[in-house]
Parts: sequence; structure tokens; C-alpha cells
Amino acid sequence: MSDPKFSIIGSGSIGIGWAIVFARAGYKVKVYDIEESALRNFENQVKNRLELLDENKLLTNSPKKIAARIKTTLDLTEAVSDADFVQECGPENLETKRDLFTKLAKLAKPDAIIASSSSALRPSEFASNIASNERCLVVHPGNPPYLISIAEVVPAKFTSEQAIKTCTDLLNKVGIIPIRVNNEPQGFVFNRLQGAILREAYCLVRDGIISPTDLDLIVTEGLGKRWSIVGPFATSALNVRGGIKAHVARMGKSYFEMGSERGQNDPWDEALVERVAADIESKLPDAKWEKNTQKRDLALMKLTKLFEKVIKP
Ligand SMILES: NC(=O)c1ccc[n+]([C@@H]2O[C@H](COP(=O)([O-])OP(=O)(O)OC[C@H]3O[C@@H](n4cnc5c(N)ncnc54)[C@H](O)[C@@H]3O)[C@@H](O)[C@H]2O)c1
Repeated sequence: MSDPKFSIIGSGSIGIGWAIVFARAGYKVKVYDIEESALRNFENQVKNRLELLDENKLLTNSPKKIAARIKTTLDLTEAVSDADFVQECGPENLETKRDLFTKLAKLAKPDAIIASSSSALRPSEFASNIASNERCLVVHPGNPPYLISIAEVVPAKFTSEQAIKTCTDLLNKVGIIPIRVNNEPQGFVFNRLQGAILREAYCLVRDGIISPTDLDLIVTEGLGKRWSIVGPFATSALNVRGGIKAHVARMGKSYFEMGSERGQNDPWDEALVERVAADIESKLPDAKWEKNTQKRDLALMKLTKLFEKVIKP
């Protein structure tokens, strides 16, 4: 698809974010809302955010040129009739999403992708009983989507592989890295990971182990800082010479016991560790351990310098 057209349904926080992503990439966007005041707010917000992105040298076209690619409307048919990709950004409410998906499936072109920004509602909950649902799925962004460049792509059983491919190709075109999430897990993956940390954080504060402020500091100055360069698996591979298997041999028992304290019983068996090691070490082979740890350190040095300049909240 050489010049895809985008449509956004719901012009709140996430609708604003997606509109910037699609228009910044050079494509036309139509934005629908049921509230005229929401559309006026949308227009102001898009303008302000584009200007701020421009001031920070994060745009290759002028804010005015990018904003001119975006049109707002109170007419749903007009918003979707020529779209190749519809991104639903209405409220996180099952009935609203069911109703919207029923209408969108009738109004959109037969081969248009219909994606929802849903944070937790699964595609099978709101798109099971509608016609042509093989092109329906969730595309859950991070907030704000124009700065967080991944989105979770969550198909239902009824979503076709062709639609998933068209969707991921379009996301790549607009600079968003599509992350495939299988089997529609509760909370998808982004929020499951966030939730795992938040649940533990509440327990640690409850038990008088740490203050909330200090817990946040462990994340912003420690884990989070490092994770912005290497994820938890890559961290394990680079923390211990010998990679993932050596890390599990050294730390696996301790991590298992921490889980047991919280009633969890999910041992990392040999086959599972093999799978993780094979994937992670295809990018970070143990033979290049020194080189890769040095690369991590250099990136952390750059980040540290950047952090020194940033005024923290
Ligand atoms: N805010 C976040 O951090 C975040 C992150 C990822 C995903 N999401 C998801 O994105 C979706 C939108 O969230 P948001 O934070 O932008 O919400 P929001 O409340 O800021 O915006 C929702 C917009 O939808 C409009 N709306 C209400 N009913 C509508 C309808 N029937 N048709 C069209 N528009 C309608 C509202 O007028 C409003 O402008 C939700 O599913 C949410 O869970 C939000």
C-alpha cells in the first residue's frame, strides 16, 4: 500500500497521539468524535504537541505541514469510508467498543484494518459477533504514542494472518514497532509487566521495607535506566558471564523463592531457559560478552549525561 489513509475514532489523549504518529509519517488522517468540544481540544493539543516536538528537533516537516494532513469530523461515515487503517480510540468501555466495531465494520472498506487502542478489553470481547471480523484486532500503544515507539498487536482467533501482516506493515511505515502478543492475555504484556512490578511495589511498601519515593528511585535511577537500553532478559545475559543459563544457575533459585513468598509457583524449567537463551543469545552471543557489556556501558554513559541535563519532576 503506497499511500495509506488513516482514520481515528475518538479524539482524546490517545487519539491525539495516534494522529501525530500517522500525520508525522506523511499520511492523511481523518479524526471523528461525538463531541465537538473534544475535536476543538484535539486541534489545540495537536498544534501544541507538534510545536514542542519541533522545538526538540523531533520532526522532519513543519508542525503546520503535519497538522494540515489531519481533518476532524463529526460524521462517522466521512471519517472511515476511504480509510485503509481505522484506529479506534473511544472510551475503555465494552458496550461502546462493541457498538463502535459493529458500525465500523459496516462503514469501512471491506479490506480496511480495524484496530482498537484498548488497554485491557480483548478483541474477542467486542468484535466476536460482528461481520468481517477477520480484520479486527487490538493495537495497544504506549502513551504518548509519538514518543513510545512500540505497540502491542493483539489478534483474536478470528483475526486473519493477512490482516495481522497488513497491520504490522502499516505500523512499521509510521515508525511504530509492532509487538505480536498471542492468545489475548488479560492486560496484554505491557500492563502485565507493569502490573507485576506494581503488585510487588505495593507489598514492599505495605510491609515497611521501603518508602514509595525510594521505590520509585530504584526504578528511575536503577532498573528503568538500564532497561531503556537492555531489557530484563538481555540484562540477565550481560550480568553474568556465560549468558542466560549461567544467570539462571546463579540466581534462579533466589528468584523462585521470591515468587514463592507471593504464592507463585512457576519454575523456569530447562526447556524454557533453553528457549530464552537461544533467542537472546542469537543477538548477544556469549562469545562477544565483553564487547556487548561495553556497548551497554557506553549507552548508559550517554544516558547518564542526558539525565544530568533533564529537570526531574
Ligand atoms: N490514556 C492512556 O494512557 C492509554 C494508553 C493506551 C491505551 N489507551 C486506550 O485508548 C482508548 C482511549 O483512551 P483515552 O485515554 O484517549 O480516552 P479519552 O477519555 O481521553 O478519550 C476518549 C474520546 O472518545 C470520545 N468518545 C466517547 N464516545 C465515543 C464514541 N461513541 N465514538 C467516538 N468517540 C467517542 C470522547 O469524546 C473522547 O474524546 C481507551 O480504550 C484506553 O484504554 C489509553
